[in-house]
Amino acid sequence: MKKRVLILTGGGDCPGLNAVIRAVVKRASQEKDWEVIGSVQSFDGILREPTEIMVLDEKSVSGIHFRGGTILGTTTKGGPFAWPYKKPDGTWGSVDRSDEMLNKLSYMGIDAVINIGGDGSQKISQALYEKGCNIIGVPKTIDNDLSATDFTFGFQTAVQVATEGVDKLVTTAASHNRVMILEVMGREAGWIALHASIAGGAEVCLIPEIPYDVDKVLEKINARFDNSGKGFANIVIAEGAMPKDGTAVHRNSNEIGYKNKVYGGIAYKLQEQLKEAGMEWDTRVTVLGHLQRGGVPVAYDRVLASQFGVKAFEMVLKKDFGKMVAYRHPEIIGVPFSEAISRYNFVEKDSYLLKTARGLGINLGD
Ligand code: F6P
Repeated sequence: MKKRVLILTGGGDCPGLNAVIRAVVKRASQEKDWEVIGSVQSFDGILREPTEIMVLDEKSVSGIHFRGGTILGTTTKGGPFAWPYKKPDGTWGSVDRSDEMLNKLSYMGIDAVINIGGDGSQKISQALYEKGCNIIGVPKTIDNDLSATDFTFGFQTAVQVATEGVDKLVTTAASHNRVMILEVMGREAGWIALHASIAGGAEVCLIPEIPYDVDKVLEKINARFDNSGKGFANIVIAEGAMPKDGTAVHRNSNEIGYKNKVYGGIAYKLQEQLKEAGMEWDTRVTVLGHLQRGGVPVAYDRVLASQFGVKAFEMVLKKDFGKMVAYRHPEIIGVPFSEAISRYNFVEKDSYLLKTARGLGINLGD
Protein backbone atom coordinates (compact mmCIF):
# COMPACT_ATOMS: atom_id res chain seq x y z
CA MET A 1 0.00 0.00 0.00
CA LYS A 2 1.16 3.52 -0.84
CA LYS A 3 2.11 6.00 1.85
CA ARG A 4 -0.43 8.78 2.26
CA VAL A 5 -0.02 12.48 2.82
CA LEU A 6 -3.14 14.43 3.78
CA ILE A 7 -3.37 18.03 2.57
CA LEU A 8 -5.84 20.64 3.73
CA THR A 9 -6.50 24.37 3.62
CA GLY A 10 -7.75 26.26 6.70
CA GLY A 11 -8.62 29.84 7.62
CA GLY A 12 -9.50 32.60 5.17
CA ASP A 13 -8.79 31.83 1.54
CA CYS A 14 -5.87 33.43 -0.22
CA PRO A 15 -4.67 33.61 -3.84
CA GLY A 16 -2.10 30.84 -4.32
CA LEU A 17 -3.66 28.06 -2.23
CA ASN A 18 -4.34 25.98 -5.34
CA ALA A 19 -0.78 26.50 -6.55
CA VAL A 20 0.49 24.97 -3.26
CA ILE A 21 -1.88 21.99 -3.58
CA ARG A 22 -0.78 21.44 -7.18
CA ALA A 23 2.91 21.66 -6.27
CA VAL A 24 2.54 19.09 -3.47
CA VAL A 25 0.70 16.70 -5.77
CA LYS A 26 3.13 17.14 -8.68
CA ARG A 27 6.17 16.63 -6.46
CA ALA A 28 4.57 13.63 -4.71
CA SER A 29 3.73 12.03 -8.05
CA GLN A 30 7.46 11.76 -8.72
CA GLU A 31 7.64 9.31 -5.79
CA LYS A 32 6.15 5.95 -6.75
CA ASP A 33 5.15 5.00 -3.22
CA TRP A 34 3.18 8.12 -2.19
CA GLU A 35 -0.35 9.37 -2.77
CA VAL A 36 -2.02 12.64 -1.80
CA ILE A 37 -5.43 12.84 -0.14
CA GLY A 38 -7.25 16.17 0.26
CA SER A 39 -9.51 16.86 3.23
CA VAL A 40 -12.50 19.07 2.46
CA GLN A 41 -12.77 22.31 4.47
CA SER A 42 -9.70 21.87 6.59
CA PHE A 43 -9.95 19.09 9.21
CA ASP A 44 -13.75 19.12 8.96
CA GLY A 45 -13.56 16.64 6.08
CA ILE A 46 -11.94 14.12 8.41
CA LEU A 47 -14.21 14.83 11.36
CA ARG A 48 -17.46 14.64 9.41
CA GLU A 49 -19.41 11.43 8.99
CA PRO A 50 -19.21 10.32 6.26
CA THR A 51 -15.64 11.52 5.79
CA GLU A 52 -15.21 14.12 3.03
CA ILE A 53 -11.90 13.54 1.30
CA MET A 54 -10.63 13.38 -2.26
CA VAL A 55 -7.72 11.59 -3.86
CA LEU A 56 -5.57 14.18 -5.60
CA ASP A 57 -3.58 13.12 -8.63
CA GLU A 58 -1.90 15.06 -11.41
CA LYS A 59 -5.11 15.09 -13.41
CA SER A 60 -7.20 16.57 -10.61
CA VAL A 61 -4.75 19.43 -10.02
CA SER A 62 -4.04 20.17 -13.66
CA GLY A 63 -4.33 23.88 -14.42
CA ILE A 64 -5.42 24.97 -10.94
CA HIS A 65 -2.33 27.09 -10.23
CA PHE A 66 -4.00 30.25 -11.49
CA ARG A 67 -7.40 29.65 -9.92
CA GLY A 68 -8.37 31.71 -6.88
CA GLY A 69 -9.84 30.17 -3.73
CA THR A 70 -9.10 26.55 -2.87
CA ILE A 71 -10.37 23.40 -4.58
CA LEU A 72 -10.51 21.78 -1.13
CA GLY A 73 -12.67 24.49 0.44
CA THR A 74 -11.76 26.06 3.76
CA THR A 75 -13.26 27.18 7.05
CA THR A 76 -12.56 29.78 9.69
CA LYS A 77 -14.67 28.03 12.32
CA GLY A 78 -14.16 25.28 14.84
CA GLY A 79 -11.37 22.80 14.22
CA PRO A 80 -10.39 19.53 15.94
CA PHE A 81 -9.76 21.18 19.31
CA ALA A 82 -12.97 23.22 19.39
CA TRP A 83 -15.64 21.45 17.39
CA PRO A 84 -18.94 23.37 17.72
CA TYR A 85 -22.02 21.45 18.88
CA LYS A 86 -25.52 22.42 19.86
CA LYS A 87 -26.39 21.83 23.50
CA PRO A 88 -29.84 20.50 24.50
CA ASP A 89 -30.81 24.03 25.62
CA GLY A 90 -30.15 25.36 22.10
CA THR A 91 -26.94 27.23 22.91
CA TRP A 92 -23.59 26.33 21.32
CA GLY A 93 -20.55 24.84 23.00
CA SER A 94 -17.36 23.28 21.72
CA VAL A 95 -15.70 19.92 22.25
CA ASP A 96 -12.12 18.68 21.76
CA ARG A 97 -12.19 15.98 19.04
CA SER A 98 -8.45 15.93 18.38
CA ASP A 99 -7.86 12.39 19.76
CA GLU A 100 -10.75 11.00 17.77
CA MET A 101 -9.38 12.72 14.65
CA LEU A 102 -5.85 11.41 15.14
CA ASN A 103 -7.25 7.89 15.55
CA LYS A 104 -9.20 8.33 12.35
CA LEU A 105 -6.06 9.52 10.51
CA SER A 106 -4.17 6.44 11.59
CA TYR A 107 -7.11 4.19 10.63
CA MET A 108 -7.07 5.87 7.19
CA GLY A 109 -3.37 5.12 6.84
CA ILE A 110 -2.31 8.77 6.78
CA ASP A 111 1.46 9.00 7.30
CA ALA A 112 1.82 12.79 7.21
CA VAL A 113 -0.27 15.95 7.10
CA ILE A 114 0.38 19.24 5.27
CA ASN A 115 -1.70 22.01 6.82
CA ILE A 116 -1.91 25.17 4.71
CA GLY A 117 -3.17 28.07 6.81
CA GLY A 118 -2.54 31.24 8.78
CA ASP A 119 -1.52 31.65 12.41
CA GLY A 120 -4.73 30.06 13.78
CA SER A 121 -4.21 26.99 11.60
CA GLN A 122 -0.54 26.72 12.53
CA LYS A 123 -1.44 26.85 16.23
CA ILE A 124 -3.61 23.80 15.53
CA SER A 125 -0.64 22.24 13.66
CA GLN A 126 1.61 22.72 16.67
CA ALA A 127 -0.95 21.25 19.08
CA LEU A 128 -1.41 18.22 16.80
CA TYR A 129 2.36 17.83 16.47
CA GLU A 130 2.65 17.81 20.26
CA LYS A 131 0.13 14.94 20.23
CA GLY A 132 2.35 12.94 17.88
CA CYS A 133 0.99 13.93 14.46
CA ASN A 134 3.54 14.00 11.60
CA ILE A 135 2.61 17.47 10.41
CA ILE A 136 4.11 20.24 8.28
CA GLY A 137 2.65 23.77 8.06
CA VAL A 138 2.48 26.02 5.03
CA PRO A 139 1.81 29.69 5.87
CA LYS A 140 -0.83 31.66 3.99
CA THR A 141 -2.27 35.09 4.52
CA ILE A 142 -2.76 38.11 2.32
CA ASP A 143 -1.88 40.22 5.37
CA ASN A 144 1.81 39.15 5.34
CA ASP A 145 1.76 39.27 9.13
CA LEU A 146 3.64 36.04 9.94
CA SER A 147 7.11 36.86 11.21
CA ALA A 148 8.80 33.55 10.33
CA THR A 149 8.65 34.15 6.59
CA ASP A 150 9.84 37.13 4.53
CA PHE A 151 6.61 37.00 2.51
CA THR A 152 3.44 34.96 2.42
CA PHE A 153 1.83 34.09 -0.91
CA GLY A 154 -1.36 36.03 -1.63
CA PHE A 155 0.14 39.24 -0.31
CA GLN A 156 1.42 40.52 -3.67
CA THR A 157 -1.94 39.77 -5.28
CA ALA A 158 -3.74 41.73 -2.55
CA VAL A 159 -1.28 44.62 -2.98
CA GLN A 160 -1.92 44.60 -6.72
CA VAL A 161 -5.69 44.76 -6.20
CA ALA A 162 -5.33 47.54 -3.60
CA THR A 163 -2.96 49.49 -5.87
CA GLU A 164 -5.40 49.23 -8.77
CA GLY A 165 -8.00 50.58 -6.32
CA VAL A 166 -5.80 53.60 -5.52
CA ASP A 167 -5.10 54.16 -9.24
CA LYS A 168 -8.81 54.26 -10.01
CA LEU A 169 -9.62 56.50 -7.05
CA VAL A 170 -6.87 58.99 -7.96
CA THR A 171 -8.53 59.82 -11.27
CA THR A 172 -12.00 60.26 -9.79
CA ALA A 173 -10.58 62.28 -6.85
CA ALA A 174 -8.79 64.60 -9.28
CA SER A 175 -11.88 65.02 -11.47
CA HIS A 176 -14.12 65.98 -8.53
CA ASN A 177 -11.64 67.73 -6.22
CA ARG A 178 -12.39 65.19 -3.55
CA VAL A 179 -10.73 63.29 -0.76
CA MET A 180 -10.99 59.55 -1.33
CA ILE A 181 -10.53 57.11 1.55
CA LEU A 182 -9.73 53.51 0.64
CA GLU A 183 -9.95 50.89 3.40
CA VAL A 184 -7.85 47.79 2.80
CA MET A 185 -7.33 44.58 4.80
CA GLY A 186 -4.73 44.25 7.55
CA ARG A 187 -5.95 43.66 11.08
CA GLU A 188 -2.68 43.78 12.98
CA ALA A 189 -0.21 44.93 10.36
CA GLY A 190 -0.30 47.59 7.68
CA TRP A 191 1.65 45.87 4.91
CA ILE A 192 -1.04 46.01 2.24
CA ALA A 193 -1.87 49.65 3.03
CA LEU A 194 1.77 50.71 2.98
CA HIS A 195 2.69 48.91 -0.23
CA ALA A 196 -0.45 50.14 -2.03
CA SER A 197 0.15 53.71 -0.83
CA ILE A 198 3.69 53.73 -2.15
CA ALA A 199 2.78 51.96 -5.40
CA GLY A 200 -0.36 54.02 -5.97
CA GLY A 201 0.97 57.39 -4.82
CA ALA A 202 -1.45 58.05 -1.94
CA GLU A 203 -0.99 61.19 0.15
CA VAL A 204 -1.91 59.57 3.47
CA CYS A 205 -1.38 56.02 4.71
CA LEU A 206 -2.73 54.91 8.09
CA ILE A 207 -1.67 51.58 9.56
CA PRO A 208 -2.32 49.74 12.85
CA GLU A 209 1.32 50.17 13.93
CA ILE A 210 1.04 53.99 13.99
CA PRO A 211 -2.10 55.30 15.73
CA TYR A 212 -3.07 58.41 13.78
CA ASP A 213 -3.58 62.03 14.77
CA VAL A 214 -6.55 63.33 12.77
CA ASP A 215 -5.26 66.92 12.86
CA LYS A 216 -1.99 65.83 11.23
CA VAL A 217 -3.97 64.02 8.52
CA LEU A 218 -6.10 67.13 7.95
CA GLU A 219 -3.01 69.34 7.68
CA LYS A 220 -1.67 67.14 4.89
CA ILE A 221 -5.00 67.08 3.07
CA ASN A 222 -5.48 70.85 3.31
CA ALA A 223 -2.03 71.40 1.83
CA ARG A 224 -3.25 69.55 -1.27
CA PHE A 225 -6.05 72.07 -1.94
CA ASP A 226 -5.75 75.71 -3.01
CA ASN A 227 -7.98 78.57 -1.80
CA SER A 228 -10.54 77.99 -4.52
CA GLY A 229 -10.97 74.36 -3.44
CA LYS A 230 -9.02 72.89 -6.32
CA GLY A 231 -7.00 69.82 -5.42
CA PHE A 232 -7.54 66.26 -4.31
CA ALA A 233 -6.12 63.71 -1.91
CA ASN A 234 -6.07 59.94 -1.52
CA ILE A 235 -5.97 58.18 1.81
CA VAL A 236 -5.31 54.46 2.26
CA ILE A 237 -6.25 53.10 5.66
CA ALA A 238 -5.74 49.57 6.97
CA GLU A 239 -8.87 48.04 8.56
CA GLY A 240 -6.98 47.66 11.87
CA ALA A 241 -5.82 51.29 12.03
CA MET A 242 -6.88 53.38 15.02
CA PRO A 243 -6.84 57.00 16.15
CA LYS A 244 -4.18 57.80 18.75
CA ASP A 245 -6.79 58.48 21.40
CA GLY A 246 -9.24 55.79 20.33
CA THR A 247 -9.69 52.20 19.28
CA ALA A 248 -9.90 50.13 16.10
CA VAL A 249 -13.34 49.42 14.61
CA HIS A 250 -14.33 45.79 15.01
CA ARG A 251 -17.16 43.67 16.29
CA ASN A 252 -17.74 40.13 17.44
CA SER A 253 -19.16 37.77 14.87
CA ASN A 254 -22.39 35.91 15.54
CA GLU A 255 -21.29 33.02 13.31
CA ILE A 256 -21.03 29.80 15.34
CA GLY A 257 -17.42 28.85 16.05
CA TYR A 258 -15.95 32.03 14.49
CA LYS A 259 -13.58 33.48 17.07
CA ASN A 260 -11.89 36.34 15.17
CA LYS A 261 -13.03 39.91 15.43
CA VAL A 262 -14.69 41.21 12.30
CA TYR A 263 -12.96 44.39 11.16
CA GLY A 264 -14.35 47.04 8.84
CA GLY A 265 -15.56 50.61 9.12
CA ILE A 266 -12.51 52.60 10.24
CA ALA A 267 -12.63 54.52 6.92
CA TYR A 268 -16.11 55.82 7.80
CA LYS A 269 -14.92 56.73 11.28
CA LEU A 270 -12.03 58.69 9.78
CA GLN A 271 -14.41 60.47 7.41
CA GLU A 272 -16.47 61.59 10.44
CA GLN A 273 -13.39 62.59 12.40
CA LEU A 274 -12.08 64.71 9.53
CA LYS A 275 -15.44 66.45 9.25
CA GLU A 276 -15.49 67.12 13.01
CA ALA A 277 -11.93 68.46 12.80
CA GLY A 278 -13.17 71.02 10.25
CA MET A 279 -12.41 69.51 6.86
CA GLU A 280 -14.28 71.32 4.08
CA TRP A 281 -13.66 68.99 1.16
CA ASP A 282 -16.05 66.35 -0.16
CA THR A 283 -15.07 62.85 0.84
CA ARG A 284 -16.01 59.39 -0.38
CA VAL A 285 -15.22 56.05 1.21
CA THR A 286 -14.43 52.75 -0.54
CA VAL A 287 -14.03 49.53 1.44
CA LEU A 288 -12.14 47.06 -0.73
CA GLY A 289 -12.87 44.01 1.45
CA HIS A 290 -12.74 40.50 0.03
CA LEU A 291 -11.90 41.65 -3.49
CA GLN A 292 -8.35 41.51 -2.13
CA ARG A 293 -8.66 37.82 -1.35
CA GLY A 294 -10.36 36.47 -4.44
CA GLY A 295 -9.32 35.80 -7.99
CA VAL A 296 -6.21 34.93 -9.90
CA PRO A 297 -2.89 35.06 -8.02
CA VAL A 298 -0.17 37.25 -9.56
CA ALA A 299 2.88 35.39 -10.90
CA TYR A 300 4.99 36.15 -7.79
CA ASP A 301 2.43 34.44 -5.54
CA ARG A 302 2.19 31.41 -7.84
CA VAL A 303 5.96 31.01 -7.73
CA LEU A 304 6.17 31.39 -3.94
CA ALA A 305 3.21 29.04 -3.43
CA SER A 306 4.81 26.45 -5.73
CA GLN A 307 8.08 26.65 -3.82
CA PHE A 308 6.20 26.18 -0.53
CA GLY A 309 4.36 23.14 -1.92
CA VAL A 310 7.46 21.39 -3.23
CA LYS A 311 9.36 22.15 -0.01
CA ALA A 312 6.50 20.90 2.18
CA PHE A 313 6.46 17.54 0.42
CA GLU A 314 10.25 17.26 0.55
CA MET A 315 10.04 17.86 4.31
CA VAL A 316 7.52 15.00 4.49
CA LEU A 317 10.01 12.74 2.67
CA LYS A 318 12.74 13.73 5.13
CA LYS A 319 10.36 13.29 8.10
CA ASP A 320 11.20 16.88 9.05
CA PHE A 321 7.94 17.31 10.98
CA GLY A 322 6.84 19.95 13.49
CA LYS A 323 7.87 22.78 11.20
CA MET A 324 6.34 25.44 9.01
CA VAL A 325 7.72 26.16 5.56
CA ALA A 326 9.10 29.70 5.30
CA TYR A 327 10.76 31.97 2.78
CA ARG A 328 14.02 33.48 4.01
CA HIS A 329 15.62 35.04 0.99
CA PRO A 330 17.00 33.30 -1.00
CA GLU A 331 16.08 29.98 0.66
CA ILE A 332 12.89 28.13 1.48
CA ILE A 333 13.40 26.64 4.92
CA GLY A 334 11.51 24.87 7.70
CA VAL A 335 10.93 26.77 10.96
CA PRO A 336 9.75 24.99 14.15
CA PHE A 337 6.08 25.78 14.87
CA SER A 338 6.97 27.22 18.28
CA GLU A 339 9.09 29.87 16.55
CA ALA A 340 6.79 30.30 13.56
CA ILE A 341 3.73 31.32 15.57
CA SER A 342 5.44 33.18 18.39
CA ARG A 343 5.09 36.73 17.05
CA TYR A 344 3.42 38.84 14.42
CA ASN A 345 5.24 40.48 11.55
CA PHE A 346 4.63 44.17 12.16
CA VAL A 347 5.84 47.06 10.04
CA GLU A 348 8.91 48.18 12.00
CA LYS A 349 9.11 51.89 12.84
CA ASP A 350 12.65 52.15 11.48
CA SER A 351 12.07 50.02 8.37
CA TYR A 352 13.20 51.33 5.01
CA LEU A 353 9.68 50.90 3.72
CA LEU A 354 8.40 53.47 6.21
CA LYS A 355 11.38 55.72 5.44
CA THR A 356 10.47 55.43 1.76
CA ALA A 357 6.88 56.44 2.49
CA ARG A 358 8.06 59.44 4.50
CA GLY A 359 10.63 60.25 1.81
CA LEU A 360 7.82 60.38 -0.74
CA GLY A 361 5.92 62.80 1.49
CA ILE A 362 3.25 60.28 2.44
CA ASN A 363 1.64 61.33 5.71
CA LEU A 364 1.46 58.44 8.20
CA GLY A 365 -0.82 60.22 10.62
CA ASP A 366 1.95 61.03 13.10
O1 F6P B 1 -6.41 37.46 7.83
C1 F6P B 1 -6.79 37.74 6.56
C2 F6P B 1 -8.00 38.60 6.52
O2 F6P B 1 -8.12 38.83 5.17
C3 F6P B 1 -8.04 39.90 7.33
O3 F6P B 1 -7.31 40.94 6.82
C4 F6P B 1 -9.51 40.17 7.43
O4 F6P B 1 -9.82 40.98 8.55
C5 F6P B 1 -10.04 38.82 7.58
O5 F6P B 1 -9.17 37.93 6.93
C6 F6P B 1 -11.45 38.64 7.08
O6 F6P B 1 -11.85 37.34 7.34
P1 F6P B 1 -13.26 36.73 6.97
O7 F6P B 1 -13.20 36.30 5.55
O8 F6P B 1 -13.40 35.57 7.88
O9 F6P B 1 -14.29 37.78 7.17
